[in-house]
Amino acid sequence: MKLWEGRFTAPMSADADTFNESLSFDKKLYRADVTASVAHAEMLGKQNIISPEEAQTICEGLKGILADIESGALEIQGAEDIHSFVEGELVSRIGDTGKKLHTARSRNDQVATDMRLYVRDSIDRAIFLLKELVETLSDRAHEGLRYVMPGFTHLRKAQPINCGQYFLAYAEMFLRDLDRFSAQRERMNVMPLGSAALAGTSYPIDREYTRTLLKFSDISQNSLDAVSDRDFIAEYIFSASLVMTHLSRLCEDTILYTSEEFGYWTIPDEYSTGSSIMPQKKNPDLPELVRGKTGRVYGHLTGILTVLKGLPLAYNKDLQEDKECFFDTEATLFSCVSIYTALIKKMQLNVNVMFEAAGEGYSTATDVADYLAKKGVPFRDAHAITGKIVRYCIEHKLTLQTLPLKVFQEISPVFEKDVLSIVTVRLSAEGRNSVGGSSQEATRKNLYSVRRRRARTVVQHRHGKNHHP
Ligand code: ARG
Repeated sequence: MKLWEGRFTAPMSADADTFNESLSFDKKLYRADVTASVAHAEMLGKQNIISPEEAQTICEGLKGILADIESGALEIQGAEDIHSFVEGELVSRIGDTGKKLHTARSRNDQVATDMRLYVRDSIDRAIFLLKELVETLSDRAHEGLRYVMPGFTHLRKAQPINCGQYFLAYAEMFLRDLDRFSAQRERMNVMPLGSAALAGTSYPIDREYTRTLLKFSDISQNSLDAVSDRDFIAEYIFSASLVMTHLSRLCEDTILYTSEEFGYWTIPDEYSTGSSIMPQKKNPDLPELVRGKTGRVYGHLTGILTVLKGLPLAYNKDLQEDKECFFDTEATLFSCVSIYTALIKKMQLNVNVMFEAAGEGYSTATDVADYLAKKGVPFRDAHAITGKIVRYCIEHKLTLQTLPLKVFQEISPVFEKDVLSIVTVRLSAEGRNSVGGSSQEATRKNLYSVRRRRARTVVQHRHGKNHHP
């Protein structure tokens, strides 16, 4: 039974019906659909568009449907979409009164409202999970404050860095993601319900009242835009894409740092996999999978943008294609952020290996050049002199730490005994005490700042527990 079949003389053919349906995936919206319908019915009753008794019967019927879906007593099936399903079930439970629910409403404003309710919860869940990830990174940073590790540019050892600073770099990225999700939550928290099919309605509805019931912060001001706007879904998928970008970088570091060649970190056995043929192998499948799933989220971003491109006003059925890409994005985002939080929590840091590695590759050469510059040698000359020193070390198989003072002084008379301490790994990192730099003090300040900013983002709704399964 279709909601719209009155105009037709023949039933829809089975293949067309299968092609057209969305229930198989929009059933996830059942709670949002019932919630929005209850609010709509209450408003209709308050405005005497239907009688208050009818409104009450409808609301009780709807709540019964929700309870039965959640207990498993009622299976969602046999309708074109979730809206038809809920309405059909209501009519079969309470009779003709149920047919009044759709007064002053269209599926167009209904689905736009359902999606906003659902996405709003999903943003809260994303914020909750990202906060956990930032907290885990902050904890590892706190522990890492005491250690030094190699910092890279071009994947070549560049300068020793504070290990805490390393983790905080990722915390900064995910803080920006948190910010992005909170900002878009505010922007999207606007209620389209009451726009009807496209042009509003002639019934004396009270949109402000419905807004309060559904806890939207505003109501839409243009019905044509309201029924066809899916910017909030594109924004969500974009924000998720950036989270995946950041995670994929952390994955890449994890894969490198846990390799035999680096050995900086060890993935705990519980989060590693083996090979079916090579018994010695311990593989980083989880980071590889997260890195790989980044591709599918980017794919969904291209997908939704392409669906929205060139759509004539107002609602078009193309918009039904907003759902699967969104649902898959949300599931991928949640599982990747959760598994990485667990992985980072459990990661073993091989601090001695990192410390040794931090001194390799003449990583304190910048400190030698800075030493000369601070004694009045123009930096460009200091750079050239240090280059000579590094070349001497390479030719004589020495390091900056094992090069005798005598040789330093032969290359430049400006060197004094104290140069021997500034080439050490620890002092090299400690010297970079500029705001945001790699000294322990600067890193500690960064840590406090990250924790402060993390605490500022509040999870608005149900503590981030997504109540749409
Ligand atoms: N399943 C549809 C969607 O997701 C619901 C809205 C249907 N509206 C319509 N005019 N056919 O967009």
